Amino acid sequence: MLWIILAGGVAALLARFFSPEPEPIFGKYRQPGRWFWLKYIAMRLLLWIRNKMQKHINVDVDGQAVHPLVHKERMQTLGEHPLAFDAIFFMACSMDGTSLIVGSERRHHNVINSPIYVLIPGLGLLKHKKLPDTCLFGATNDAYGAEGIRIQPIEPLKTWKVEFDGFMNLKEDPSREFRVKLRCVYTGQWPAFNYDTDLHPHSMAKIIAAESWSRDYFKRLQSAHQSHYEQMGHINGTVQVDDNTYSLNLMSIRDHSTGPVRDMDLLYRYAFYMMFLEDGTMASVIVVNQPCSVSMMESGYVCLPGGAVHNMEWCDFQLYQHGEDGEPPTDHAFSFKAGGTIYRVKVKGEEVAFHFVGWQWEAKIIEMFSTFEINGVKGRGLSEFHYHNSSGRPSNVAATDPEWFADVVKKTYSTPSPYSLRDATKRPYYAK
Ligand SMILES: *[C@@H]1O[C@H](CO)[C@@H](O)[C@H](O)[C@H]1NC(C)=O
Ligand SMILES: *[C@@H]1O[C@H](CO)[C@@H](O)[C@H](O)[C@H]1NC(C)=O
Repeated sequence: MLWIILAGGVAALLARFFSPEPEPIFGKYRQPGRWFWLKYIAMRLLLWIRNKMQKHINVDVDGQAVHPLVHKERMQTLGEHPLAFDAIFFMACSMDGTSLIVGSERRHHNVINSPIYVLIPGLGLLKHKKLPDTCLFGATNDAYGAEGIRIQPIEPLKTWKVEFDGFMNLKEDPSREFRVKLRCVYTGQWPAFNYDTDLHPHSMAKIIAAESWSRDYFKRLQSAHQSHYEQMGHINGTVQVDDNTYSLNLMSIRDHSTGPVRDMDLLYRYAFYMMFLEDGTMASVIVVNQPCSVSMMESGYVCLPGGAVHNMEWCDFQLYQHGEDGEPPTDHAFSFKAGGTIYRVKVKGEEVAFHFVGWQWEAKIIEMFSTFEINGVKGRGLSEFHYHNSSGRPSNVAATDPEWFADVVKKTYSTPSPYSLRDATKRPYYAK
């Protein structure tokens, strides 16, 4: 009996040794290869050592301990690279469906990429007049935003001011235009979740172990690095739409990403769920495919009403099984595990809008305002789907740009990365 088991084991090992590496699904999603478990163990060990060595504490001039993210809670100086960036994003909603999406991705030349949406039950979805284009001009150095959007950090990891003044259209009937004045304060309720340090070691090791390793791969991984953190809390305030004022009491997620380069032409797809439940629980799950660095990156966490934050150990959501054709499913489900609990998530999309990010519209973002049910508890929030897009920024959209912008765009995109996903046959560096 024993020799049969032994022989079976040896045969399985040999089979693994001689088995070919699996083909990436749709040529984009790399699958765990024959040395996956060995690589996984090596990664776990590395992460464990890194964790042991990183126990230093930041202190300010008086020797007081300072949260390591405090210096990120202000407008960052953009680096040399033409694609340097500093981006914030806020999403908030209440259980009646009132929702707010507003962001600001700062780039060189005082250009920002920002959407703003306000969803008011009974009235409909209001959006910035420029949407689906998000190139806004004339940003200043005292606030994130431009062309009506103004977002300012007040107290690190605690308070941000979120404001808008301008005109918005109704999605249902774009001929209807409203004067909108938003006055809100974001208050952080949970500690920030930092993607550099707080990812679950199992999911982190799995992500890297699934890739094919080489010196070049690790170089790419390092150069693709961006710092990113999120924080859950509340947004309170008012929004005035023409002569009606609505008071806002919203559950909210915000994030801040910054780094030397963000090249949206490298990013193939992501799905990002922001979930707020009736019992006060808030959760975030994101699954990303950026073929040159990570083809099945996943991350998430749950914020419990008592104050605990649990990071996500695994998630069974597969991007390539959901809307690979560019049309995200409205009705779907997935599971993930965090803090010892398995969460079964049911998603139902209710209202959809999309916009483009990037000076050549290289990223198409679909915002799906959704209802959720997680382990029987109802909730609401947003399902956000990103797709790489090569169709380019149309010249009629660019017609109102400042004169100098066309040249800047040409220069910025003149030396594309070898890993660019842009369809090289139609690189539409537009001419005015
Ligand atoms: C904001 O609204 C939430 C939910 O209603 C509430 O718990 C919180 O105290 C409010 N915060 C402020 C600063 O008003
Ligand atoms: C890019 O976006 C346009 C406009 O929404 C769409 O027609 C086209 O199919 C998209 N391309 C891809 C590859 O998704």
